Parts: sequence; structure tokens; C-alpha cells
Amino acid sequence: MRGRKKKVLVGSLLVLLTAGGALAPGAMADGGEGKKIYEAHCLSCHGPQGDGKGPGARHLSPPPPDFTDRAFWENRTDSFLFHVIQNGLGPMPGWSDTLSPSSIADVLSYLRTFRR
Ligand code: HEC
Repeated sequence: MRGRKKKVLVGSLLVLLTAGGALAPGAMADGGEGKKIYEAHCLSCHGPQGDGKGPGARHLSPPPPDFTDRAFWENRTDSFLFHVIQNGLGPMPGWSDTLSPSSIADVLSYLRTFRR
């Protein structure tokens, strides 16, 4: 029962994220919580500017992507990115044990603010 409830919650969150992205790009940008989470867990690899040049990124292969690159955002949906942050990709660890779905949504909103 508990597991099922969690799935439903994550599902509706994804719908919210997707709808928010389609209706009003940037409207969900989060400068508070998302920024704090980014600085604590992501900045070391993804860099203060989100361009993938963090101090911990030097030896990673493949390297972290450039979040300032418009093309990066054009090729990926929110639900895909949400999944990647939860489960990890290549050298990046997954964050589902550390971050709640709503924290992941916050940090994802913050990542969007790097887009130029
Ligand atoms: C240990 C270094 C490291 C940390 C810490 C890290 N990442 Fe990553 N991240 C990477 C690397 C390397 C990639 C590229 C993986 C690949 O392309 O195989 C990546 C890729 C990504 C991607 C893009 C996936 C794609 O579609 O190509 C997102 C989004 C992302 N990270 C978000 C985050 C968030 C949010 C955090 C903090 C909660 C975080 N990362 C922490 C190293 C890291």
C-alpha cells in the first residue's frame, strides 16, 4: 500500500512538471531550495555556472554536460531528466536515496536557470 501511494505521488509530480514546462517555461524556476541542493550535491561536478566544469569533473568520462547549452534542453524531457537524477547516469550517482521527489523537482527547476 505504501509503495503504491509513493508511485502515484511521483507520477502526479511528473505530470505537474511536464505540464508546467509546456505551459509556462521558466515559471517553475526555483532560486531557493533548488539552488541550495545544487550547491550541496551537484556543484562539485557540474560547476558553479552549470557548464560542467566543476572541480570534481576533471577525470570523469563522459564529462558532465553543459547546462547553459540550449541544445541540451531541447533534446531532453523533464521526466527523462527526473529519472536520470533519481537513478544516475554513467559516472554520476543516483540521488533517490538522498533527495525526495520534490527536492529533485526543485533542483531540476534550478538547472533550467542555467540555460542561456
Ligand atoms: C560525481 C560527479 C557528479 C555529481 C556530484 C553530480 N553529477 Fe550530474 N552528471 C555527472 C556526469 C559525469 C554526467 C554525464 C553522464 C553521462 O553522460 O553519461 C552527469 C549528467 C547529469 C545530467 C544530464 C543527463 C543527460 O541527459 O545527459 C543531469 C540532469 C544531472 N547530471 C544532474 C545532476 C544533479 C541534479 C546533481 C545533484 C543532485 C548531479 N547531477 C550531481 C556527474 C555528476
